Amino acid sequence: MKNESGIPDLTRIVGRIEDLPTLPRTFLRITELVNNPRSSAKDLAKVVTDDQVLTVRLLRLVNSSFYGFPQKISTVTSAIVLLGFDAMRNLLLTTSIFDLFSNRNRKGRLRLEKLWDHSLGCAVGAKVIGNYLRYDKIEELFVSGLLHDIGKIVEMLFLPKDFTKVTSMVESRDILMVTAENYILGYTHADIGKFLAEKWNLPPKLESVIANHHQPGLSERFLQETAIVHLADILCRALNMGSGGDRKIPPLDREAWEILELELSTIGPILEEMESEFEDVRQFVRHSP
Ligand SMILES: [Fe+2]
Ligand SMILES: [Fe+2]
Repeated sequence: MKNESGIPDLTRIVGRIEDLPTLPRTFLRITELVNNPRSSAKDLAKVVTDDQVLTVRLLRLVNSSFYGFPQKISTVTSAIVLLGFDAMRNLLLTTSIFDLFSNRNRKGRLRLEKLWDHSLGCAVGAKVIGNYLRYDKIEELFVSGLLHDIGKIVEMLFLPKDFTKVTSMVESRDILMVTAENYILGYTHADIGKFLAEKWNLPPKLESVIANHHQPGLSERFLQETAIVHLADILCRALNMGSGGDRKIPPLDREAWEILELELSTIGPILEEMESEFEDVRQFVRHSP
């Protein structure tokens, strides 16, 4: 389904999705606050503490080994001060999105769980690679990894007929999901993800990574971030973390590899770190209230 310019006509496709997920109100209020230079940590804390589940989650996460703060953090305000506004927004986005998609569809639960594990693996990978590159906004990379395949989740839950056609082809020909999507649908999960990111008003960097993680060279402004998530997607597959919906490992984009300027010898230690961090983060996500 493409229009005259060859760009997938996503308005029509997404028009077929009856019940496109919306972000929770708390998240929208938080985004407003983060975007307003006059808001304070206290304002943000007020919004968070109104939501008890969110408060518990936030405190658990800031006290987990993911952040590794030496002291125990017991109030929302101190968590915000320690993490900063942007990091808070990313963290809240993560927890909001987990809620949106958790256990909606019993039939596909196993597949969904594997896809979440794949996304978490990619998130951890992006974080570890980011650390090696001394990238300063690590949690942004984490969220980008977590959301890179959000289009697959939408496809699975909201376009089930298309999804079934795609997965049958993936299985019978042993090809990548993105290849089957292009072949059967004329658009991919990356296109759907981009559409969703626009609809949700996600930051442009996040939108760009979601849209271009299979072809990082197309990312004009955020080449490095997209290349990081592209590599993390490959590494988490190599480590068998969950399943991206197919059994193939996508080829490494040469341009992405050159942009990263990583030594080949760093890949071993990166994989080791990914493995040890993955279980920690998975515990947190699985056992959140
Ligand atoms: Fe993907
Ligand atoms: Fe992926």
